[in-house]
Amino acid sequence: MSKKDDIIKERIPRHIAIIMDGNGRWAKKQGLARMFGHRQGVTTVHNITEAAAEIGIEYLTLYAFSTENWNRPKEEVDALMALLVDTIAKETPTLMKNNVKLLTIGDVDRLPKATRDKFLGCIEQTAGNTGLNLVLALSYSSRWEIIEAAKRIAAEVKDGKIAIDEINEAAISEHLTTQGIPDPDLLIRTSGELRISNFLLWQIAYSELYFTDKLWPEFTVEDLYEAIVDYQHRERRFGKTSEQVKS
Ligand code: IPE
Ligand code: IPE
Ligand code: MG
Repeated sequence: MSKKDDIIKERIPRHIAIIMDGNGRWAKKQGLARMFGHRQGVTTVHNITEAAAEIGIEYLTLYAFSTENWNRPKEEVDALMALLVDTIAKETPTLMKNNVKLLTIGDVDRLPKATRDKFLGCIEQTAGNTGLNLVLALSYSSRWEIIEAAKRIAAEVKDGKIAIDEINEAAISEHLTTQGIPDPDLLIRTSGELRISNFLLWQIAYSELYFTDKLWPEFTVEDLYEAIVDYQHRERRFGKTSEQVKS
């Protein structure tokens, strides 16, 4: 029996965001180098993306590499950037087969040229797909994004394109890299860490949070279904009373 059977079709979250954590610890547990964990993590990305597309999720945002991750040992950063090139080459046909459109919300200018070119090439190739939107947060952090938005809004005020009084929630959302993407309904973090690590701070204001001890390489499609079922049994009140929400 699959947890999938418990999913209420009418209440599928539109947008799921995932902090994919625990690759290094997974590798260490089997006495392997950290990169084995990252490679195994790619298999999880493949499986979760296919499952999300299949059940009709509109947006899946995956935190793949943070601004802070640039501070890891150079060998790990280089190996991760090379793994990305490899993965994109291997996975593009799967994205096409599943009608998945690739998007990014990161600072792609910071990526090495080979990684950036492959990545932007895949975004272009999948641009016409109409199924799941797979949003990769690569060289991303929320504070970076908010700083960029603040600079652009300030410049527009200076140029008289927008008045100070016109700066509202919508205006800020439109200046973030997630512009046009609905806020996540559900945020999942694997590996037992109970923190957000600079991910989508503005956008998760009202997201439902789900933490699991499973390390990312061992996170399965059944675990995804379980998180969705858990989400579907929560009452999202958005500041209102339970009675208001029910009526
Ligand atoms: C998540 O796994 C992947 C990236 C941040 C690139 P980690 O590499 O953070 O694995 P742990 O947390 O050290 O186990
Ligand atoms: C968060 O994981 C970033 C990604 C999953 C890409 P980290 O492993 O970098 O986060 P911290 O350092 O434990 O907060
Ligand atoms: Mg980690």
